[in-house]
Amino acid sequence: MKPRPWTIQDLDGIAALEAECFPDPWSRRMLAESYLSDRFYGVILEENGGIVAYGGIRMGVDEAEIELIAVSEMYRRCGRGRAVLEELLEIAKKHGARRVFLEVRVSNASAQILYLKCGFHGLYCRARYYENEEDAIVMVKELA
Ligand SMILES: CC(C)(COP(=O)(O)OP(=O)(O)OC[C@H]1O[C@@H](n2cnc3c(N)ncnc32)[C@H](O)[C@@H]1OP(=O)(O)O)[C@@H](O)C(=O)NCCC(=O)NCCS
Repeated sequence: MKPRPWTIQDLDGIAALEAECFPDPWSRRMLAESYLSDRFYGVILEENGGIVAYGGIRMGVDEAEIELIAVSEMYRRCGRGRAVLEELLEIAKKHGARRVFLEVRVSNASAQILYLKCGFHGLYCRARYYENEEDAIVMVKELA
């Protein structure tokens, strides 16, 4: 279960899965803009000829932010989310990040548990951050 980098051919499949997983999905155009950015690194997991999980991280100078992570519903709870997250953390380390941030909905317990298990902790809340006015929790992991 080794994630590989996005290619341009993956964008339609990632956009489809993004739309399946989120009420406020990134459009194909947003995904393509990130793909073309030299500060963004995207990874996917493929199985049976289809994309079943993906993630993306944006590098700053010595910090990084996980911008995307999702697993197709049928494939959840089998370690794929963790595999994608660990690959993104490896990328962050390789490019010199000292800490990694992310945002998660207060209602998203599954993602929060995954992040806590992978060494993130909560920093603070961004009130009414999402379109439906839900709060975001900002989480961080310090990299060794
Ligand atoms: C969050 C998400 C990426 C997790 O992916 P996943 O492949 O199911 O996660 P994993 O199987 O790697 O889970 C790793 C650990 O996280 C925790 N976890 C994940 N989903 C959980 C759930 N529904 N309930 C409780 N714990 C959960 C468990 O501790 C799990 O380990 P275990 O299965 O050995 O107990 C997936 O649920 C998803 O795509 N959700 C919709 C999109 C989303 O919310 N993305 C995050 C945006 S911030």
